[in-house]
Amino acid sequence: MRVLVTGGAGYIGSITARTLLDSGHDVVVLDTLEKGHRWAVDTRAELVVGDVGDRNVVLGCLAGVDAVMHLAGYIEVAESQADPERYFDNNVTRPLVMLQAMEELGIDAIAFSSTAAVYGEPEQVPIDETASKRPVNAYGESKLAFEGVLDDAAAAWGLRSVRLRYFNVAGAWPDGSLGEAHDPETHIIPRILGAIAGGRTAFEVYGDDYPTPDGTCVRDYIHVCDLARAHVLALEYLHAGGEGVVCNLGNGQGFSNLEVVKACSEVTGVSLAIEFGPRRAGDPAILVASASQARAVLGWEPAYGDLQVMVQDAWRWCQRIVQ
Ligand SMILES: NC(=O)c1ccc[n+]([C@@H]2O[C@H](COP(=O)([O-])OP(=O)(O)OC[C@H]3O[C@@H](n4cnc5c(N)ncnc54)[C@H](O)[C@@H]3O)[C@@H](O)[C@H]2O)c1
Repeated sequence: MRVLVTGGAGYIGSITARTLLDSGHDVVVLDTLEKGHRWAVDTRAELVVGDVGDRNVVLGCLAGVDAVMHLAGYIEVAESQADPERYFDNNVTRPLVMLQAMEELGIDAIAFSSTAAVYGEPEQVPIDETASKRPVNAYGESKLAFEGVLDDAAAAWGLRSVRLRYFNVAGAWPDGSLGEAHDPETHIIPRILGAIAGGRTAFEVYGDDYPTPDGTCVRDYIHVCDLARAHVLALEYLHAGGEGVVCNLGNGQGFSNLEVVKACSEVTGVSLAIEFGPRRAGDPAILVASASQARAVLGWEPAYGDLQVMVQDAWRWCQRIVQ
C-alpha cells in the first residue's frame, strides 16, 4: 500500500510511519512541522511540508495513495480550553479539505487518531466503545466532532474509517532512536524523566483529591510501538475490505500518577520529592480502556504492555535528547 501519514513528523506519526515502512508499505508524510520535526521523518518516506487544509498540497500528496492515516492535529487539553476555535479549526475544519480531496480521488480508507478524551468522565471502567461520549474539554470535543464527520462521510459516499481512540501513549522506539519531543511537554512520563535528566529534585503532580485510591489521576498507558502496529493492522483491515469500526487502544490497566512517578524512579534510580499542585482543568479522574474490539476486529495484541518497559524506552530516548 501507499499511505499518506498526516502528522508524520510528530511523536506518534513518525513512529507509525517507520512501522509502516518496516512492514513493506510506501509512505508520504504531510506535516506543517509546526510541532513535528524534520529529523523524525524516516529517510525512506517522502516528506511534504504543508497543511492538511491546503487543497492543492493535499491533492498532490494523495496521488497514487491507497489509504490515509490521519494523525495531524493539536493535542493539548489546556490549550484547547483556552483557545477552542483554534482547536476546532485545526482538528475539524482543515481535515475536511483533506476528506473532500479523498472523495474526489476515490480514496475511501482512513485510520484516524481519536482519543479517550471523547468519553469525558466515564460512568464505568474499563471503558468500551459504546460508553457515553461526553468530552470535558474542547480537545475531546474536536476529536468527537471529526469522528461524526467520518460517520456522515461513510453514509454519504462510502468512506471506511478505523477510528482509534488512544488512551495515554508512552515509550519510544526500543533502541532509543525515536521518541517524544514536545515543547512544552505536558505528558507525565516525559515530564518526570525530563525533570530527572535535568537534575531537578521535585516533581509537581496535578491534584491529590480525585476519587481514586491514592487521590491522583489514573490512566491507561499504551506503548507507542503497540499503537503504531495497531495503525498498520487497521489499514490492512480496510485494504482487505473491512467496514468502518471504532477501537479503543490501551492495555486495560490503570496506573495512578504516583505509581507512574514510582516507576520512573525505579527505572532511573532517582527519587523525586512529590509536590501536589491544583487539578488541571478538564482532566477526568480515571480512564482505563477495554480494547477487546481492537483484539477481535484487528487481531491486535500489545507486545509492550508493561509500564516499566514503556518507561525504560522513554528513558533511553530522554537521555539521548537531553544530552
Ligand atoms: N500523545 C498522546 O498521548 C495521544 C493520545 C490520544 C490521541 N492522540 C492523537 O494522536 C495524534 C498524534 O499525537 P502526537 O502526540 O504524535 O502529537 P504531535 O504534536 O507530536 O504530532 C502531531 C503532528 O501534526 C502536525 N500538524 C498539526 N496540525 C497540522 C496540520 N493542520 N497539517 C499538517 N500537520 C499538522 C504537527 O506539526 C505535528 O508534527 C494527534 O491527533 C493526537 O490528538 C495522541
